Amino acid sequence: MRKNIVAGNWKMNMTIPEGENLINEILKESISNQTILIVAPPYPNLVTTSLLLKNSKIKLAAQNCADKDKGAFTGEVSASMIKSTGAEYVILGHSERRAYYNETDQIINSKIKLALKAGLKTIVCCGEVLSERESNKHFDVVSKQLKGMFDGITPTDFENIIIAYEPVWAIGTGKTATSDQAQEMHKFIRENIKSAYGNEIAENTSILYGGSCKPSNAKELFNNADVDGGLIGGASLVAKEFIEIAKSF
Ligand code: 13P
Repeated sequence: MRKNIVAGNWKMNMTIPEGENLINEILKESISNQTILIVAPPYPNLVTTSLLLKNSKIKLAAQNCADKDKGAFTGEVSASMIKSTGAEYVILGHSERRAYYNETDQIINSKIKLALKAGLKTIVCCGEVLSERESNKHFDVVSKQLKGMFDGITPTDFENIIIAYEPVWAIGTGKTATSDQAQEMHKFIRENIKSAYGNEIAENTSILYGGSCKPSNAKELFNNADVDGGLIGGASLVAKEFIEIAKSF
């Protein structure tokens, strides 16, 4: 059966010492064995975070990886480099990568393949912008993203894929999707996976909600049948809030 997962995407926040403090605060708290807790600090913090998490159950993720295997790509970080830090996961296709760094579904597809090849599990993001929701195109947008990002991805690959639905209009805005809106889209995503990969894979895939998820709304969101946890931005930078969200199942 699929897992409950709460992942903290720190985005471009936290120097190495600040990150160490945050991890030490998180490590003081305990959460249920039924919940997988993941932290995704910036690249420079991966090794130090990996060492701090060594004897804990908390998992480590990167926020991105290159769409190339290795070589002359100045400034890029490959999936296998990430794997060698001790990270187990990588977030791919975040809307901020799409909006500010021109990532397309095709680029994200290459990244997913490289990450899986390197032995990483992937947290793959999808979600519509406000104008797309307002014009009732959100289902079409998400289904096109899924189709493009998962082109050539096999049923076996899917064991290492988590999906995050992040409506762009809810990210960092304080405007959360309603519980019904989240459930409706998560169910739609699961149905998409079911038609491409079958019922068993669809039922085993964790689908996380992201976008202004906070301790005050996490319970209601996670209570939905198809919402298996959250990808948390702002609230993951405060240990107590992050842990409270992780206790919301
Ligand atoms: P916020 O929780 O800050 O809205 O960010 C969500 C997000 O983008 C997580 O990846």
